[in-house]
Amino acid sequence: MSATAGRATAQPDQEGRRGGFSSRRVFILAAIGSAVGLGNIWRFPYVAYENGGGAFVVPYLVALLTAGIPFLLLDYAIGHRNRGSAPLSFARLRRGAEGLGWWQVGICFVIAIYYAAVIAWALRYTFFSLDEAWGADPEGFFFGEFLQAGDVEVTADVVPGVLVPLALVWLAVLAIMVLGVQRGIGATSVIFIPVLVLAFAALVVQALFLPGAADGLDALFTPDWSALTSAPVWAAAFGQIFFSLSIGFGIMITYASYVGRREDMVGSGLVVGFSNSGFELLAGIGVFAALGFMAQAGGVAVGEVASGGIGLAFIAFPTIISEAPAGALIGVLFFASLVIAGITSLVSVIEVVISAVRDKLDTSRRAATVAVVVPAALLSLALFSTTSGIYVLDVVDHFVNQYGILVVALVSMLVVAWALRALTGLGEHLNVHGRPRVGTGWRVLTSVVAPVGLALVLVFALRDDLRAPYEDYPSWLLLVFGWLLAAVLPLVGFLLARLPWRAGTHLDGPPPGSDPAAPLDVTATADPTPRDRPGSGHDEGGLR
Ligand code: ALA
Repeated sequence: MSATAGRATAQPDQEGRRGGFSSRRVFILAAIGSAVGLGNIWRFPYVAYENGGGAFVVPYLVALLTAGIPFLLLDYAIGHRNRGSAPLSFARLRRGAEGLGWWQVGICFVIAIYYAAVIAWALRYTFFSLDEAWGADPEGFFFGEFLQAGDVEVTADVVPGVLVPLALVWLAVLAIMVLGVQRGIGATSVIFIPVLVLAFAALVVQALFLPGAADGLDALFTPDWSALTSAPVWAAAFGQIFFSLSIGFGIMITYASYVGRREDMVGSGLVVGFSNSGFELLAGIGVFAALGFMAQAGGVAVGEVASGGIGLAFIAFPTIISEAPAGALIGVLFFASLVIAGITSLVSVIEVVISAVRDKLDTSRRAATVAVVVPAALLSLALFSTTSGIYVLDVVDHFVNQYGILVVALVSMLVVAWALRALTGLGEHLNVHGRPRVGTGWRVLTSVVAPVGLALVLVFALRDDLRAPYEDYPSWLLLVFGWLLAAVLPLVGFLLARLPWRAGTHLDGPPPGSDPAAPLDVTATADPTPRDRPGSGHDEGGLR
């Protein structure tokens, strides 16, 4: 079928069925829901503390303004202009670039299966907080009684205490995703983001009144200005921004493809970027106030109790909950916040995969959701509800973040900017309805500054991983679930790109009418898609 025929017939119908957010407000809440996740609550406070404390604000803000927000806008422009999942949007930029989109889809599939496990742990810990089930030894409880982690080996010994909450998390994801973009993802975000902000704000206020809170804040905010001359500190800032803003791995491309054509994507990006950083700051204050209390109660320096990630959430916080007044409340607020922040991020990660499958195969929402979520859930249960789950999770998380997200972000940025020379067109697209306007500054930031920042992060990550095995894990574990996994994802991506699109899929540039910066197609103006009408919610329910 000729390109013109594809435009005239298939496209508006195809796009209408993809569905969309009913308004810019819903999109912004969903994008904030995606950005605010585990990365904000358990990663940011410790990264900031480790990398100069108060002085970290400088590289952090530089990374946000020179790479984070510019790249967020690039993702928005790609998805909003091309109105497709990551593979379809890249294919519409240039057929040969489709593999980049599938590489991102693969990364999201892997992230989803382990991210769900952490949410399941947090769900269980929300209830453990009520009676401090960990007793006097939170660390022994977490690895022993709860995870039943044994030697570092891959086993099939299932841990029912993880299996059940993990199955529940996947059921919740299935239910949300089947409902569709607006009624599922949109509604979840509209309800849960305000709940998250309220719950977390209540936690922060409570933490600030704990004895020792001021010491914790001192430790976090006392600036170590010498850190500013350290390249790894700058690398840490760029690394934090990319994971935290959910940029570079398909999420924002996918979400932007669901936004009405006439919406201001630049203003939306600024709101999302600054809200995400605001939440990070709030998390830093809450977490370090609580750590200050823990240090004072134990008679040690804050530096001795400060930690991030799994150690912070499942070992330090239980200790704080046991010792603090109204500890159960702190526990419920903290772990429920992790669950909510996690779920609203997880749905965005899995939507990248669902949306790609839908676009490629032209299936109904329901079929694509089942086809993606069921295998993801089974794999997630098989790998992470066993006694070896924690080790596999730790390795996959480390390698997919460093050599998955950051590498695909760097490569796609270079391809879009330098090989396809698409930045000017994408900038013009943003400027049609977006304010403030983007121009040469944005193009320089996305094509030069952000790639240099990312390359810096990768150099330091690679140096560390080649110097010593990550966390001293055995080399077979690092090889299989680390290096090999990271290397296989782009290969699978480029193989998937060879599969044909269903007949009639419009692949020659943005679909008609979606890019007001480009010459208009008559058929498109005469037949605006349902997404141009806020609230149309056309795809929902997978009822096709
Ligand atoms: N942006 C999400 C997070 O911070 C993925 O966890």
